[in-house]
Amino acid sequence: MKPIEIKPQIFWIGVNDQTTDLFEGLWPVRKEGVSYNSYLIADEKKAAIDLIKPIKTEEYLIGLESIVAVKEIDYIVLNHLEPDHAGLLMTFSELAPKAKFICSAKAAEMIPGFLKVKKRERFQVVKDGEVIELGEKSLQFFSTPFLHWPETMMTYERTSKILFSCDAFGGFGAIHGRIFDDEVDSLEFYEKEALRYYVNIVANYSQRVISAIEKLSGLPIEIIAPSHGLIWREKPQRIIELYHKWASFAQGPVEKGVTIIYGSMYGFTASLMDAVARGVARTGIKYCLFDGARTNASYILPSLWTMNGVIVGAPTYEGRLFPPITAILEMARHKRIFGRKAAYFGTYGWSGGALKDLKRLAEEMKWEVTHTLEVQGMPDSSDLERAENWGQEFASFLIQADN
Ligand SMILES: Cc1cc2nc3c(=O)[nH]c(=O)nc-3n(C[C@H](O)[C@H](O)[C@H](O)COP(=O)(O)O)c2cc1C
Ligand SMILES: [Fe+2]
Ligand SMILES: [Fe+2]
Repeated sequence: MKPIEIKPQIFWIGVNDQTTDLFEGLWPVRKEGVSYNSYLIADEKKAAIDLIKPIKTEEYLIGLESIVAVKEIDYIVLNHLEPDHAGLLMTFSELAPKAKFICSAKAAEMIPGFLKVKKRERFQVVKDGEVIELGEKSLQFFSTPFLHWPETMMTYERTSKILFSCDAFGGFGAIHGRIFDDEVDSLEFYEKEALRYYVNIVANYSQRVISAIEKLSGLPIEIIAPSHGLIWREKPQRIIELYHKWASFAQGPVEKGVTIIYGSMYGFTASLMDAVARGVARTGIKYCLFDGARTNASYILPSLWTMNGVIVGAPTYEGRLFPPITAILEMARHKRIFGRKAAYFGTYGWSGGALKDLKRLAEEMKWEVTHTLEVQGMPDSSDLERAENWGQEFASFLIQADN
């Protein structure tokens, strides 16, 4: 894509990816797309800040070279080594022969093994707070380990007050033409995709997010320029506040609301689900409902992350909880979504087993299972009535409970 000027001499030179189906081989992005934001500062010294995933390499080079010849680049700042930002390093070590690779000490230690770029004389390690002058502009580096890898850092341009935050403050969602927060039609879409990205990619390191925000709180920031998704220039504080809020959910309290996840083979549990949802709806509490067999966990995790109640609806399958539901709960456990208030409903054929399995998983996640409802086989009208009241009771309990 053609570069877009962010400030005089500072350009977005990223690319959009609308063809990768799974980000990190795991999280669906086909529909929403994702951008790899790379930046170029064309001062006396020329600096590229983060590269892109090795797709659309020619498109990327055409954009970059419309501003500066690649062989003239003096610095390649590597805020993070994941291949969606540093995967082109070997290529660039040839194309930009005089460029120094600016990185943290940890990154320098990792690059030869991880990216197989061995030319140590090209590495320039920067310490926390260190400054490199580019001419009129200057770059300052801040160590932000485990956002979300051990080597990660952020880069701050001091005259324009731009924070190049790499993965932190990023989001899913391609940015076609409109790359700034004040340009897009639906900020709601990008905020939702930033939350999905946060929970999928960053959430395990929430304490690190809070520490980084505290560490950078004294820095005057006019623009947040992450490596994925929108550039926040109208309201840079907005994305910082959102990340801070989402990170705080790791320790609770979270918002009141219910995530209903269900699965069903013949529709018996699904029929109970409709009744349960009706009961929940009667209380007016916020809820989100997902068919766990047909919805990637990527879309369910944000709901689990942000709300205090969970209703799991699943049949027994070969003595255990219906496997697609188990898979989602295991992903929630991986993401440390702990301390929720939970309820289980389901149907079984003869001796059940799903509930026992659910209780084991719930215990591992410190989920308190306060309400359970089991029906043998096809629910009849009295079962449906019971399910509706049961859903209402659990939702009322959530409304009254401390988060
Ligand atoms: C492949 C398969 C395995 C099952 N295993 C068990 C089981 O181990 N124990 C049990 O009580 N019921 C078992 N059932 C019966 C279902 O749990 C029961 O029919 C349930 O009501 C199905 O609900 P659904 O229509 O929501 O899937 C099994 C059913 C299927 C199809
Ligand atoms: Fe990353
Ligand atoms: Fe990334």
